[in-house]
Amino acid sequence: MLKLTDVVTYYGPIPALKGVTLEVNAGEIVCLLGGNASGKSTTMKTILGIVRPHSGTVEFEGKRLDGLATGEIVRRGIALVPEARRVFGRMTVWENLAMGSFIRRKAPASEIDQDIERVYTLFPRLRERANQYAGTLSGGEQQMLAIGRALMARPRLLLMDEPSMGLSPAFVDQVFDIIQTINRQGTTILVVEQNAAVALSIASRGYVLQNGQIAVQDSAAALLAADDIRRAYLGEDQA
Ligand SMILES: Nc1ncnc2c1ncn2[C@@H]1O[C@H](COP(=O)(O)OP(=O)(O)OP(=O)(O)O)[C@@H](O)[C@H]1O
Ligand SMILES: [Mg+2]
Repeated sequence: MLKLTDVVTYYGPIPALKGVTLEVNAGEIVCLLGGNASGKSTTMKTILGIVRPHSGTVEFEGKRLDGLATGEIVRRGIALVPEARRVFGRMTVWENLAMGSFIRRKAPASEIDQDIERVYTLFPRLRERANQYAGTLSGGEQQMLAIGRALMARPRLLLMDEPSMGLSPAFVDQVFDIIQTINRQGTTILVVEQNAAVALSIASRGYVLQNGQIAVQDSAAALLAADDIRRAYLGEDQA
């Protein structure tokens, strides 16, 4: 479904990605692991066209994406839940969700309402807070809103950049349960995480980025079992 081949991305003179090759098949949850500054967010931004690759190709459903504008990439079926859950703080929960459907401006209002209803079913807390300003939500609630807003674009592939960041363990479990539900409902997922154990527990496969390159790739089960890999690449002291 998604295929990156030898992707090289620079910021000014400095390469952040030095030839990344990875693949996500339809229906999968794949996780992209790696320490700080290894290039995880840059990979997400390159897929979405927020930064342009210097060389290499990004293909989605058999067609090249690299070089296209972000809006066009979203229209083709990819949405991003950004790092640090950037919601529109001065808009209400409902307004944030409605903004998420901007690429479907021509869709009838009833269809948008139906999709907002779907998000409220996944996250009942957002329904309770529909008219609250997003900036006043708790961190966990903002993460739910960021995920809900991305779903409003009806993506076939959802990119998630560190959905567990800053959340308490109970909230992390809840968010990962919902990620699984979204996947079962038919959305393919590529999730970036530092929290390797939680991400691998719901993923089928994983890649480990190190210094802009894929250092390891394997099944989630094998990566979960490989304490040495997690120590070497992810800075974990122990499992
Ligand atoms: N806009 C930018 N301009 C210049 N350098 C950047 C920019 N964004 C990222 N970088 C650099 O690219 C490298 C990779 O950054 P990236 O954000 O992809 O890492 P990451 O793996 O997501 O890290 P983290 O776990 O801290 O979020 C870092 O060295 C970073 O400083
Ligand atoms: Mg990052």
